Amino acid sequence: MHTGANQSIGYIDRPIPQGLDLKQAIDQLRKEKNALILAHYYQTGDIQDIADFVGDSLALAQWAAKTTADIIVLCGVHFMGETAKILCPDKKVLVPDLNAGCSLADSCPAPEFTKFVNAHPGYTVISYVNTTAAVKAVTDVVVTSTNAKQIVDSFPPETKMIFGPDRNLGNYINSITGRNMLLWDGACHVHEKFSLEKILALKAIYPDAEIITHPECKQPIIEVSDFVGSTAALIRYTTQSAQKQFIVATESGVIHEMRKKNPEKEFIPAPPNDSTCACNECIYMRLNTMEKLYNCLKYELPEIHVDEEVQQKAVKPILRMLDISEQLGL
Ligand code: 13P
Ligand code: SF4
Repeated sequence: MHTGANQSIGYIDRPIPQGLDLKQAIDQLRKEKNALILAHYYQTGDIQDIADFVGDSLALAQWAAKTTADIIVLCGVHFMGETAKILCPDKKVLVPDLNAGCSLADSCPAPEFTKFVNAHPGYTVISYVNTTAAVKAVTDVVVTSTNAKQIVDSFPPETKMIFGPDRNLGNYINSITGRNMLLWDGACHVHEKFSLEKILALKAIYPDAEIITHPECKQPIIEVSDFVGSTAALIRYTTQSAQKQFIVATESGVIHEMRKKNPEKEFIPAPPNDSTCACNECIYMRLNTMEKLYNCLKYELPEIHVDEEVQQKAVKPILRMLDISEQLGL
């Protein structure tokens, strides 16, 4: 079962009045209700364009933590809405389609992860933000792909650490920090299925293109990459690089912002290994649509709820991450 819930069934697909200008209607509702629309870079272009802020997982948490809005609409997946709710328990936090789960978060059920943590007393527990609130509640520090290296580096070298749930990100962070963190064996279905063969075939067609990769990808893809980073870091890299062509090995939604920032450059989505499709989309992220965003603002549903005891435990490692990130200027 994924981390989205079925609360949304019944009203997310309520019909939209005929002829309604969705953009205008969303804008009006946002103003009337003092709502903040946050969108992840993996959302469709129309949602990114209407959002108040578009960002990676770290930026979404940072914006949620400081907003004065009454309602936060998180256009992303369930754990992102949950993180915003943990940070702002008194606000209404909505996700347009609560069925937007995350295969990576699902690969780390809280009871099993808690057993793993309890079996390793004395270990510091580092959890990727792509986890449920219950996993965060047994975590010492949350990280995102933007700050994972710096946060791991901030611990003394002799610190014994557990890293969950992404084995690829964990392996990558071990390799660039020289640590030997114990890894949870989880993965993201989108980033796991990029095809090295197809990426190398694209490189043969575009020999000048740089391969840029999210660290949730497998090691062989990371090894052939010119740059590895979070979605925000990948976007920044394409803007700063003198190169004109990029093979992009992450969810293809990120290319929307890359093209906006660099209209003269060419972005080639890296293909997955299991289809003839040219790009790789997260089925969960893509559940959100403009229609659902409109209904979500109109009916103020579906709402994210987090158990109070879990919230009080889970907020600590998230605030610790935000504090360290602020100190590091991230
Ligand atoms: P970032 O937004 O931290 O790059 O993470 C990507 C991702 O997979 C989000 O689910
Ligand atoms: Fe989760 Fe992967 Fe989708 Fe990101 S891309 S939300 S890690 S399933």
